Amino acid sequence: MTDGLRSAAIGILKANDRGGYTVPTKGLYPFQWNWDSCLTALGQRHFDADRALSEIETLFAHQWPCGMAPHIIFHELDDGYFPGPEVWACGRPTPTSGITQPPVAGFALKRLLDGAPALRDRARPLLARITAWHDWFHATRDPQGSGLVAIIHPWESGRDNSVDWDIPFQRVPTEGIAPYLRRDTQHADPAHRPTKEQYDRYIWLIERFRSLDWRTDKLHDASPFRVIDPSLNAILIRSCLDLADLAEAMGETEIARQNRALAQKGLAALPALWSEAHGQYLSLDRMTGQLIDSRSSGGLLAAFAPIPVEHAARIAATIDAHATRFRVASHAPDTPGFDAKRYWRGPVWLVVNYMIADGLSRAGQTKAATQIIRSSLELIRDSGFAEYYDPATGEALGGTQFTWTAAMVLEFLALEGAA
Ligand code: DGY
Repeated sequence: MTDGLRSAAIGILKANDRGGYTVPTKGLYPFQWNWDSCLTALGQRHFDADRALSEIETLFAHQWPCGMAPHIIFHELDDGYFPGPEVWACGRPTPTSGITQPPVAGFALKRLLDGAPALRDRARPLLARITAWHDWFHATRDPQGSGLVAIIHPWESGRDNSVDWDIPFQRVPTEGIAPYLRRDTQHADPAHRPTKEQYDRYIWLIERFRSLDWRTDKLHDASPFRVIDPSLNAILIRSCLDLADLAEAMGETEIARQNRALAQKGLAALPALWSEAHGQYLSLDRMTGQLIDSRSSGGLLAAFAPIPVEHAARIAATIDAHATRFRVASHAPDTPGFDAKRYWRGPVWLVVNYMIADGLSRAGQTKAATQIIRSSLELIRDSGFAEYYDPATGEALGGTQFTWTAAMVLEFLALEGAA
């Protein structure tokens, strides 16, 4: 059974490989996505570590001079996706989007090289590139130096239509945008995707940033949507720390020092997002200075950073209290906004499970981590390699033959085998 799962997962990674980069799935997502790619490399490393490293190298070959690693690289034309390169109009040699995504690259690179030390020399240039991205986050997304960085578009969180964004997103207008045709709803059930109103706002923000010529140093203050996402900040902290450890082991002491300093800033500020009442971290609306009372998996994923052990224990208990058949729901069931089937408003995502389980295990919450891993593999066995899953029924939702789901399965199988 395990062998069958493993070969099915490898089959998906190979089928979605376009040579140097991997598409998240055929049709719905026909380009290279930033955090998809880095997490995909973790799956590829189980059968081809060289190829895994190319996945990250290709992403950083398209890094902007300011340091930003864009969220999409449009390697080849494909009009099956909206918004395509003509909407972004970023003026890059190979078209890219103009926003970013959760910075998992530092974490992924360390994990990859820990298992493939022979690739260290080849990977050395990536240390400076990823550090430049980490620096960029702090410089452009935390201009006041609070220690926590903001997203300026919900897509930057990777959790596009999370309930977390509902209130701050109201500030983004829907009027005045160019007419457009959505493509995502031709590939996936519209009831499982973001709404039209959300899409209008996604596009309004893109048009606003485009009107500022994608000057990334100007966009934070120009955006009506500025939110501190605990998951993105935890990922940034963890990547800084992992990259620092890797750099140190490779004799790159200055890079190690820079990343540790950035991580310390984040770690010192993260406790401001903790909610004792909810037993998890919350997002913060930077425009109002208020925490957002929305209990999403973003506040559980904060466990990916070295948070206090008592917070990790509370997060494990909060996940238990969801009491869903499958873990981890992307929004707390029985709270406002929960929708078991709609993208990031309730469904289970294996990449989030992976990072939560990893963080909880490091914090000594072994039982909780094991339960998440078991639940993830049960989902795959029941429902196949989907984009996301209903936490109550396990129904497969969104895209099929999904790359990062397959990659996470290879990671989970390895962890299960090791246990
Ligand atoms: C999409 O198109 O759904 C993506 O999540 C945006 O990155």
